[in-house]
Amino acid sequence: MPTIARTAAELRAATVGSVALVPTMGALHDGHVSLMEQARPLAKTLVVSIFVNPTQFAPGEDLDAYPRTFEADLARCEAAGADVVFAPSVAEMYPAGLDGAITLDPGPLGAVLEGAERPTRFRGVLTVVAKLFGLVRPNVAVFGEKDYQQLALIRLMSRELRLGVEVVGCPTVREASGLAMSSRNQYLSDSERERAAAISAALRSGADAGAGGADAVLTAAAKILADAGIDPDYLVLTSPDLGPVQPTGEARLLIAARVGKPRLLDNISVTLGA
Ligand code: PAF
Repeated sequence: MPTIARTAAELRAATVGSVALVPTMGALHDGHVSLMEQARPLAKTLVVSIFVNPTQFAPGEDLDAYPRTFEADLARCEAAGADVVFAPSVAEMYPAGLDGAITLDPGPLGAVLEGAERPTRFRGVLTVVAKLFGLVRPNVAVFGEKDYQQLALIRLMSRELRLGVEVVGCPTVREASGLAMSSRNQYLSDSERERAAAISAALRSGADAGAGGADAVLTAAAKILADAGIDPDYLVLTSPDLGPVQPTGEARLLIAARVGKPRLLDNISVTLGA
Protein backbone atom coordinates (compact mmCIF):
# COMPACT_ATOMS: atom_id res chain seq x y z
CA MET A 1 0.00 0.00 0.00
CA PRO A 2 1.46 3.44 -0.86
CA THR A 3 2.23 5.83 1.99
CA ILE A 4 -0.44 8.52 2.21
CA ALA A 5 1.11 11.95 2.76
CA ARG A 6 -1.20 14.85 3.59
CA THR A 7 1.38 17.50 4.42
CA ALA A 8 4.70 18.75 3.08
CA ALA A 9 6.46 17.24 6.13
CA GLU A 10 4.85 13.80 5.59
CA LEU A 11 5.76 13.98 1.93
CA ARG A 12 9.38 14.79 2.69
CA ALA A 13 9.61 11.86 5.13
CA ALA A 14 8.19 9.45 2.53
CA THR A 15 10.33 10.29 -0.52
CA VAL A 16 13.77 8.75 -1.03
CA GLY A 17 16.24 9.22 -3.90
CA SER A 18 15.09 10.33 -7.33
CA VAL A 19 11.39 11.17 -7.64
CA ALA A 20 8.86 10.80 -10.45
CA LEU A 21 5.56 12.66 -10.06
CA VAL A 22 2.19 11.96 -11.66
CA PRO A 23 -0.13 14.89 -10.78
CA THR A 24 -3.85 14.05 -10.85
CA MET A 25 -7.18 15.32 -9.60
CA GLY A 26 -8.25 11.76 -8.67
CA ALA A 27 -11.18 9.89 -10.25
CA LEU A 28 -8.41 7.74 -11.67
CA HIS A 29 -9.04 5.68 -14.81
CA ASP A 30 -6.89 3.52 -17.12
CA GLY A 31 -5.36 6.65 -18.66
CA HIS A 32 -3.92 7.63 -15.27
CA VAL A 33 -2.73 4.07 -14.66
CA SER A 34 -0.83 4.23 -17.93
CA LEU A 35 0.84 7.49 -16.76
CA MET A 36 1.87 5.77 -13.52
CA GLU A 37 3.20 2.74 -15.39
CA GLN A 38 5.28 4.97 -17.63
CA ALA A 39 6.53 7.01 -14.68
CA ARG A 40 7.36 3.96 -12.49
CA PRO A 41 10.73 3.05 -14.08
CA LEU A 42 11.87 6.69 -14.29
CA ALA A 43 12.83 7.15 -10.61
CA LYS A 44 13.28 5.43 -7.28
CA THR A 45 10.18 6.95 -5.68
CA LEU A 46 6.89 7.30 -7.57
CA VAL A 47 4.61 9.97 -6.11
CA VAL A 48 1.02 10.32 -7.33
CA SER A 49 -0.69 13.52 -6.22
CA ILE A 50 -4.45 13.59 -5.83
CA PHE A 51 -5.76 17.12 -5.42
CA VAL A 52 -8.92 18.62 -6.88
CA ASN A 53 -7.51 22.06 -7.57
CA PRO A 54 -10.16 24.75 -6.93
CA THR A 55 -8.33 27.49 -8.82
CA GLN A 56 -8.63 25.78 -12.20
CA PHE A 57 -12.44 25.70 -11.99
CA ALA A 58 -14.32 28.72 -13.30
CA PRO A 59 -17.22 30.05 -11.20
CA GLY A 60 -19.82 28.31 -13.43
CA GLU A 61 -18.02 24.94 -13.26
CA ASP A 62 -19.14 22.72 -10.44
CA LEU A 63 -16.11 22.08 -8.26
CA ASP A 64 -18.25 20.32 -5.63
CA ALA A 65 -19.65 17.91 -8.23
CA TYR A 66 -16.17 16.82 -9.36
CA PRO A 67 -15.96 13.05 -8.68
CA ARG A 68 -14.02 12.13 -5.55
CA THR A 69 -13.18 8.41 -5.36
CA PHE A 70 -10.22 8.28 -2.97
CA GLU A 71 -10.39 4.60 -1.89
CA ALA A 72 -10.68 3.33 -5.48
CA ASP A 73 -7.90 5.76 -6.53
CA LEU A 74 -5.63 4.38 -3.79
CA ALA A 75 -6.17 0.82 -5.04
CA ARG A 76 -5.22 1.89 -8.58
CA CYS A 77 -2.10 3.67 -7.29
CA GLU A 78 -1.08 0.56 -5.36
CA ALA A 79 -1.62 -1.71 -8.38
CA ALA A 80 0.52 0.60 -10.53
CA GLY A 81 3.39 0.54 -8.00
CA ALA A 82 3.12 4.05 -6.53
CA ASP A 83 5.20 4.54 -3.37
CA VAL A 84 3.50 7.70 -2.13
CA VAL A 85 0.06 9.22 -2.63
CA PHE A 86 0.20 12.93 -1.85
CA ALA A 87 -3.32 14.08 -1.02
CA PRO A 88 -3.01 17.55 0.55
CA SER A 89 -5.80 19.75 1.87
CA VAL A 90 -6.68 23.05 0.18
CA ALA A 91 -5.03 24.86 3.11
CA GLU A 92 -1.80 22.90 2.62
CA MET A 93 -1.68 23.87 -1.06
CA TYR A 94 -2.96 27.43 -0.65
CA PRO A 95 -1.69 28.63 2.75
CA ALA A 96 -2.38 32.26 1.75
CA GLY A 97 -5.93 31.40 0.66
CA LEU A 98 -7.37 30.74 -2.78
CA ASP A 99 -6.94 34.37 -3.84
CA GLY A 100 -3.31 33.93 -2.78
CA ALA A 101 -0.81 36.65 -3.42
CA ILE A 102 1.16 34.77 -6.10
CA THR A 103 -0.21 33.09 -9.22
CA LEU A 104 1.36 32.18 -12.53
CA ASP A 105 0.51 34.01 -15.75
CA PRO A 106 0.40 31.43 -18.57
CA GLY A 107 1.20 34.06 -21.21
CA PRO A 108 -0.12 34.08 -24.80
CA LEU A 109 -0.19 30.28 -25.16
CA GLY A 110 -2.58 30.18 -22.22
CA ALA A 111 -5.05 32.54 -23.90
CA VAL A 112 -5.86 30.47 -27.02
CA LEU A 113 -7.86 27.25 -27.58
CA GLU A 114 -8.88 26.03 -24.09
CA GLY A 115 -7.69 29.32 -22.60
CA ALA A 116 -10.11 31.24 -24.83
CA GLU A 117 -12.99 29.08 -23.59
CA ARG A 118 -11.90 29.08 -19.94
CA PRO A 119 -9.76 32.19 -19.35
CA THR A 120 -8.67 31.39 -15.77
CA ARG A 121 -8.02 27.68 -16.23
CA PHE A 122 -4.32 27.63 -17.10
CA ARG A 123 -3.45 30.21 -14.44
CA GLY A 124 -4.90 27.72 -11.95
CA VAL A 125 -3.22 24.70 -13.55
CA LEU A 126 0.25 26.27 -13.74
CA THR A 127 0.00 27.69 -10.23
CA VAL A 128 -0.90 24.32 -8.71
CA VAL A 129 1.65 22.38 -10.78
CA ALA A 130 4.39 24.84 -9.76
CA LYS A 131 3.36 24.34 -6.11
CA LEU A 132 3.43 20.54 -6.59
CA PHE A 133 6.89 20.78 -8.16
CA GLY A 134 8.04 22.85 -5.17
CA LEU A 135 6.59 20.42 -2.65
CA VAL A 136 7.45 17.10 -4.31
CA ARG A 137 10.75 18.25 -5.90
CA PRO A 138 10.45 15.67 -8.69
CA ASN A 139 13.22 14.92 -11.16
CA VAL A 140 10.58 14.03 -13.72
CA ALA A 141 6.83 14.65 -14.01
CA VAL A 142 4.49 12.76 -16.31
CA PHE A 143 1.35 14.19 -18.00
CA GLY A 144 -1.05 12.85 -20.63
CA GLU A 145 -0.96 14.09 -24.21
CA LYS A 146 -4.76 14.17 -24.16
CA ASP A 147 -4.65 17.61 -22.52
CA TYR A 148 -2.12 18.71 -25.10
CA GLN A 149 -2.21 22.45 -24.41
CA GLN A 150 -1.80 21.81 -20.68
CA LEU A 151 1.23 19.60 -21.40
CA ALA A 152 2.75 22.24 -23.71
CA LEU A 153 2.27 24.98 -21.10
CA ILE A 154 3.72 22.91 -18.25
CA ARG A 155 6.71 22.03 -20.41
CA LEU A 156 7.20 25.72 -21.20
CA MET A 157 6.80 26.69 -17.54
CA SER A 158 9.40 24.19 -16.39
CA ARG A 159 11.81 25.38 -19.04
CA GLU A 160 11.19 29.14 -18.72
CA LEU A 161 11.18 29.21 -14.92
CA ARG A 162 14.21 26.89 -14.82
CA LEU A 163 12.37 24.52 -12.51
CA GLY A 164 14.68 21.65 -13.43
CA VAL A 165 11.83 19.16 -13.81
CA GLU A 166 11.84 16.98 -16.92
CA VAL A 167 8.28 17.02 -18.28
CA VAL A 168 7.31 13.81 -20.07
CA GLY A 169 4.17 13.48 -22.22
CA CYS A 170 2.46 10.09 -22.57
CA PRO A 171 0.23 8.89 -25.42
CA THR A 172 -3.52 9.04 -24.90
CA VAL A 173 -5.20 5.84 -23.71
CA ARG A 174 -8.38 5.07 -25.65
CA GLU A 175 -11.51 3.01 -25.23
CA ALA A 176 -12.10 0.25 -27.83
CA SER A 177 -14.14 2.74 -29.91
CA GLY A 178 -11.17 5.13 -30.05
CA LEU A 179 -12.72 7.58 -27.56
CA ALA A 180 -9.95 9.17 -25.45
CA MET A 181 -10.24 8.18 -21.79
CA SER A 182 -11.33 11.05 -19.58
CA SER A 183 -13.12 11.46 -16.27
CA ARG A 184 -15.69 13.49 -18.25
CA ASN A 185 -16.73 10.39 -20.25
CA GLN A 186 -18.83 9.24 -17.30
CA TYR A 187 -21.29 12.05 -18.13
CA LEU A 188 -21.97 10.61 -21.62
CA SER A 189 -25.13 8.58 -22.25
CA ASP A 190 -24.70 5.36 -24.28
CA SER A 191 -25.76 7.05 -27.52
CA GLU A 192 -23.55 10.09 -26.85
CA ARG A 193 -20.62 7.78 -26.13
CA GLU A 194 -21.15 6.15 -29.53
CA ARG A 195 -21.33 9.55 -31.25
CA ALA A 196 -18.26 10.83 -29.37
CA ALA A 197 -16.16 8.11 -31.03
CA ALA A 198 -16.38 10.28 -34.19
CA ILE A 199 -13.91 12.71 -32.57
CA SER A 200 -11.04 10.22 -32.62
CA ALA A 201 -12.20 8.93 -36.02
CA ALA A 202 -12.00 12.50 -37.34
CA LEU A 203 -8.46 12.86 -35.99
CA ARG A 204 -7.36 9.59 -37.58
CA SER A 205 -8.96 10.53 -40.88
CA GLY A 206 -7.22 13.92 -40.74
CA ALA A 207 -3.86 12.31 -39.96
CA ASP A 208 -4.33 9.86 -42.84
CA ALA A 209 -4.80 12.82 -45.20
CA GLY A 210 -1.50 14.41 -44.09
CA ALA A 211 0.28 13.81 -47.41
CA GLY A 212 -2.26 16.14 -49.08
CA GLY A 213 -1.35 19.07 -46.82
CA ALA A 214 -3.13 21.15 -44.18
CA ASP A 215 -6.37 21.80 -46.09
CA ALA A 216 -6.81 18.10 -46.88
CA VAL A 217 -6.31 17.24 -43.18
CA LEU A 218 -8.89 19.76 -41.98
CA THR A 219 -11.41 18.83 -44.69
CA ALA A 220 -11.17 15.11 -43.91
CA ALA A 221 -11.57 15.64 -40.16
CA ALA A 222 -14.42 18.14 -40.56
CA LYS A 223 -16.37 15.71 -42.75
CA ILE A 224 -16.32 12.92 -40.12
CA LEU A 225 -17.48 15.36 -37.42
CA ALA A 226 -20.25 16.75 -39.62
CA ASP A 227 -21.45 13.22 -40.54
CA ALA A 228 -21.76 12.50 -36.80
CA GLY A 229 -23.63 15.77 -36.20
CA ILE A 230 -20.79 17.20 -34.10
CA ASP A 231 -20.18 20.94 -34.37
CA PRO A 232 -16.71 21.43 -32.82
CA ASP A 233 -15.73 24.40 -30.66
CA TYR A 234 -12.49 24.17 -32.57
CA LEU A 235 -10.81 21.94 -35.12
CA VAL A 236 -7.30 23.29 -35.66
CA LEU A 237 -3.99 22.27 -37.10
CA THR A 238 -0.92 23.75 -35.40
CA SER A 239 2.80 23.17 -35.12
CA PRO A 240 3.72 20.57 -32.43
CA ASP A 241 4.26 23.44 -29.93
CA LEU A 242 0.85 24.97 -30.82
CA GLY A 243 2.28 27.73 -33.02
CA PRO A 244 1.35 28.35 -36.69
CA VAL A 245 1.41 25.21 -38.81
CA GLN A 246 4.17 24.79 -41.40
CA PRO A 247 3.32 23.47 -44.90
CA THR A 248 5.31 20.24 -44.38
CA GLY A 249 6.61 18.23 -41.45
CA GLU A 250 5.20 17.51 -38.01
CA ALA A 251 1.93 19.13 -36.91
CA ARG A 252 -0.80 18.65 -34.31
CA LEU A 253 -4.50 18.34 -35.06
CA LEU A 254 -6.72 19.29 -32.09
CA ILE A 255 -10.46 19.07 -31.52
CA ALA A 256 -12.70 20.32 -28.73
CA ALA A 257 -16.37 19.48 -29.04
CA ARG A 258 -19.39 19.19 -26.82
CA VAL A 259 -21.24 15.90 -27.09
CA GLY A 260 -24.25 16.19 -24.82
CA LYS A 261 -23.13 17.90 -21.61
CA PRO A 262 -19.39 17.18 -21.50
CA ARG A 263 -16.88 19.07 -23.57
CA LEU A 264 -14.41 16.55 -24.96
CA LEU A 265 -10.82 17.18 -26.05
CA ASP A 266 -8.60 15.08 -28.25
CA ASN A 267 -5.60 15.52 -30.54
CA ILE A 268 -3.24 13.61 -32.79
CA SER A 269 0.16 13.98 -34.39
CA VAL A 270 0.07 14.59 -38.16
CA THR A 271 2.87 14.49 -40.74
CA LEU A 272 2.22 17.00 -43.52
CA GLY A 273 3.52 16.54 -47.04
CA ALA A 274 4.78 13.49 -48.84
O1 PAF B 1 -4.76 17.23 -15.70
C1 PAF B 1 -5.11 17.32 -14.51
O2 PAF B 1 -5.64 16.38 -13.92
C2 PAF B 1 -4.89 18.64 -13.77
O3 PAF B 1 -5.05 19.72 -14.60
C3 PAF B 1 -3.53 18.68 -13.03
C4 PAF B 1 -2.37 18.67 -14.01
C5 PAF B 1 -3.42 17.52 -12.06
C6 PAF B 1 -3.44 20.00 -12.22
O4 PAF B 1 -4.45 20.10 -11.28
